Amino acid sequence: MSKCLVTGGAGFIGSHIVDHLIQEGHEVVCIDNEFADNEDFYWNSNALNIKADITQYSQIEEYFQGVDYVFHLAAESRIGPAILDPISAININVLGTCTVLQLSRKFSVKRLLYSSTSSGYGNNPCPNHENQPDDCLNPYSVSKVAGEKLCSMYTNLYNLKTIIFRYFNVYGERAPKQGQYCPVTGIFLRQHLSGEALTIVGDGTQRRDFVYVGDVVRANLLAAFTNVDNNAFGKVYNVGNGDNISINSIAHLISKNVTYIPPRSGEVKENLANISRLKQTFGWQPQMTVERWIKSQL
Ligand SMILES: NC(=O)c1ccc[n+]([C@@H]2O[C@H](COP(=O)([O-])OP(=O)(O)OC[C@H]3O[C@@H](n4cnc5c(N)ncnc54)[C@H](O)[C@@H]3O)[C@@H](O)[C@H]2O)c1
Repeated sequence: MSKCLVTGGAGFIGSHIVDHLIQEGHEVVCIDNEFADNEDFYWNSNALNIKADITQYSQIEEYFQGVDYVFHLAAESRIGPAILDPISAININVLGTCTVLQLSRKFSVKRLLYSSTSSGYGNNPCPNHENQPDDCLNPYSVSKVAGEKLCSMYTNLYNLKTIIFRYFNVYGERAPKQGQYCPVTGIFLRQHLSGEALTIVGDGTQRRDFVYVGDVVRANLLAAFTNVDNNAFGKVYNVGNGDNISINSIAHLISKNVTYIPPRSGEVKENLANISRLKQTFGWQPQMTVERWIKSQL
C-alpha cells in the first residue's frame, strides 16, 4: 500500500478521494486550511489531518516525507470569488500549485495528479478536446491553466510525473449547496427541498457536461495506479461525461417552479468533453448520469 497526500482533502471532491484511498488501505495525509466558503468540511478521522496553507512551503514541507502520490485539489475553486479577488486566486492556484510541485519534486513523489478545469477551453467550439488552444475568460481560468503549465514544465524539466485533469461540471454527494457560485445541482436541490423557486441564471439554454464525483474519484485513482508509458505524463485529460444538458432541463428534472436571474459575465454558453484520451490511456469510463443521480435525490 502507498502513502498518499491529498491537498484540499476536506473539500467536496478531495474528501471523496481521501475516503476511497483509505478504503483501499492506503496511508493518507490530508492538507486543507478550510479556506473555501463551503457549509461543511469533511475530515476523515483515519487520515493524518493537517490544517495548513499550501502557499506556505515551510508549513507543509514535513508532510511530504515518504509520500508516493500527491492528489492536488486545494484551490480557490470557484469563478465568482476569483473575479472578485483575482490576487487571492492567483496566489492560491499558482503559487500554491508551484509549492506543491516543488515539494513533490524534492521528496521524489511517484506521481502528482492535478485537478484543473474545463474553463481553460473558454469559447472553443464543442466538443472540447485537449489539443484546443486555451481561452481563459476569467482569473479562475487563468490561474488554473497556469497551474497546468507548471505541471507540464515539472514533467519536462524535472521528470516529475504529473497528470492534469480538466474536470467539467462535477456534481454529487457533498457538493456545496449554499452561495450563488456553488454547483447548480446542489443549489437546485436545496431550493426545491425548502419549497423555493429554482433560480436559473440567464435564459437557461446554456449547456453543461456534468460528471459525477464518483467518476472523478475513479479517474484520479486509475491515473495514479495504472502502469502507463512515460509520454502519458505532463498532459491534459478531460474528465466529463461526454454529453451535455441544458440548465433548463436540469431544473425541470427537479421542479416546475423556476425563476430567471441575470446572466453572469465570464461564463461560457456551452461545454462538452471529448473523453477519448482518458478512456484510451487509463481505461476510464463514466458510470453515472446526472438524470439518474437527480432522481435518486428526490
Ligand atoms: N467542482 C467542480 O465542478 C470542479 C470543476 C473543475 C475543477 N475543479 C477543481 O477541483 C478541485 C476541487 O474542487 P472542489 O469542487 O472540491 O472545491 P472545494 O472548494 O470544495 O475544495 C477545495 C479545498 O481546498 C481548500 N483550500 C483552498 N485554499 C487552500 C490553501 N491555500 N491551502 C490549503 N487548502 C486550501 C479549501 O478549503 C477546500 O476544502 C479544485 O482545484 C477545483 O479548481 C472543480
